Amino acid sequence: MATATIRIDPARVIDKVDPRIYSGFTEHMGRCIYGGIYDPGNQNAELINEKTGLRKDVMDALKALKIPVVRYPGGNFVSTYRWQDGVGPRESRPRRPELAWLTEESNQFGTDEFIEFCRELGTEPFICLNMGTGTLEDALAWVEYCNSSANTYYANLRRKNGHEEPYGVKYWALGTNLALIQVDVAKSIAGNEVWGPWQVGQMESQDYAKKAFQWAKALRLLDPTIKLIACGETGFSDWDRVVLKKLAPVVDFHSIHLYTVSEGKHLVNVVGPAAAEKGIEITKSLIDLAKIECGLSKELTVCFDEWNVWDPVRAPGEKGAEEHYDLSDALAVASWLNVFVRKADIVKIACIAQSVNVISPIITSPTGLFLQTTYFPLQLFSNLMCGSSLNVHVGGSPTYSGETVPKFIHDLDVHAPESAKGTKLIDISAVLSEDGKEVRVAIVNRSDEEEFAVPILFGPETQVKDEVTVHEVWHEDLRAKNGFDGQNVKTVVRTEAWKGIYVLKKHSFQILVFTLA
Ligand code: AHR
Repeated sequence: MATATIRIDPARVIDKVDPRIYSGFTEHMGRCIYGGIYDPGNQNAELINEKTGLRKDVMDALKALKIPVVRYPGGNFVSTYRWQDGVGPRESRPRRPELAWLTEESNQFGTDEFIEFCRELGTEPFICLNMGTGTLEDALAWVEYCNSSANTYYANLRRKNGHEEPYGVKYWALGTNLALIQVDVAKSIAGNEVWGPWQVGQMESQDYAKKAFQWAKALRLLDPTIKLIACGETGFSDWDRVVLKKLAPVVDFHSIHLYTVSEGKHLVNVVGPAAAEKGIEITKSLIDLAKIECGLSKELTVCFDEWNVWDPVRAPGEKGAEEHYDLSDALAVASWLNVFVRKADIVKIACIAQSVNVISPIITSPTGLFLQTTYFPLQLFSNLMCGSSLNVHVGGSPTYSGETVPKFIHDLDVHAPESAKGTKLIDISAVLSEDGKEVRVAIVNRSDEEEFAVPILFGPETQVKDEVTVHEVWHEDLRAKNGFDGQNVKTVVRTEAWKGIYVLKKHSFQILVFTLA
């Protein structure tokens, strides 16, 4: 059996893991909202909350993910969205053409329903503003509707619609972006909702930055407590540099997006998140540069507000992007989450795209739901990988050396760095729990061929108890999926005697929980 060595020293803290890295995203796209979280017309009355129209089974599945923040209403959708259509009596809300996914929007679910969903879920709302067809006046009106306690038109409209108290929506994004990457290894075809050619309201970076700067100023006059998120790209783009330089003084977060694409190749799939890690590192430096150039000492961090495994050829957006994930995808998602934990010093929000049905860990039918393979790493991370992120080292792991395959989505000729070359097949992150009593180690063995006997060393000053709890997501078939007919891949928990070495099965994910002695 192959060997590799993991080294973790609980004294070497990177930063606190921000729980907001386990956030979600619900877009008016496919069956995410209608038939996903909201389904008042469903004949199976026991599934639906009679008062709110929300799906009870979906809410339970989401609650178990402990989602701190949910982004809404897009995504590409927001760039032609009139939020005013989605409030007030439902029978008089207009149906509109929807230009992102070429459907129709009924507007039966809007701002008030979204806030109700967030309250029931126990999560903070995060609203993305329309910088496509929308005006600053619309944006100000939306903030006033949600957050104002004044005796003014939109605040009063909220009251008239039955909501006396302001909603206190803290997070507002200045437009939205998109980036897709095929990491085979690394030609990224990256786009972005403000700069992408598929985008209603596409802009040049300078034009976006100037406009967003003016919007930020005005929005803060109306509500100085809000947190603003700028629309970045992937991190490895000049768009990010230009936008950061202009917007650093007026925003709180710089947003980047990435989807990893593998065309069914397992190793390409699981090393994909290395590109995100590179994008985060570059963004961190661009933030430093912008702060130096603007003479700022404020907090400015990364909001990775769309990420996931998504192949838009096998699951096109126009058809609802319903990916059916297998174990390989679950391992890729675990590797994505390892990146966010390792980058705890700079990534403070990350939103999996999306939360229900659309490239999602949860799939519904009118009569029930099933949890995809990717649900389980997400649930384990949000419940266990909290506290302080620890510096980690893996010695002796084989590395990825696959080929780079060109081309891809939207035929844009934008290159990502070849970040995945040299990526270790044993991928880990670790935390010291909030109470300081446990060290939890998330390990993906990305190899589909080798198992490893891995000594885990904690440094000379640290002793752990002689038992370890293992939360494992594994199946002998790398292509195993879950479905309405059965849950093949799920978390299995067991306690084992700890003798210093752990055996990693091939293509496995596990979180090991050690108690400090
Ligand atoms: O999450 C699906 C889509 O991905 C979003 O609408 C967009 O921002 C990106 O294209």
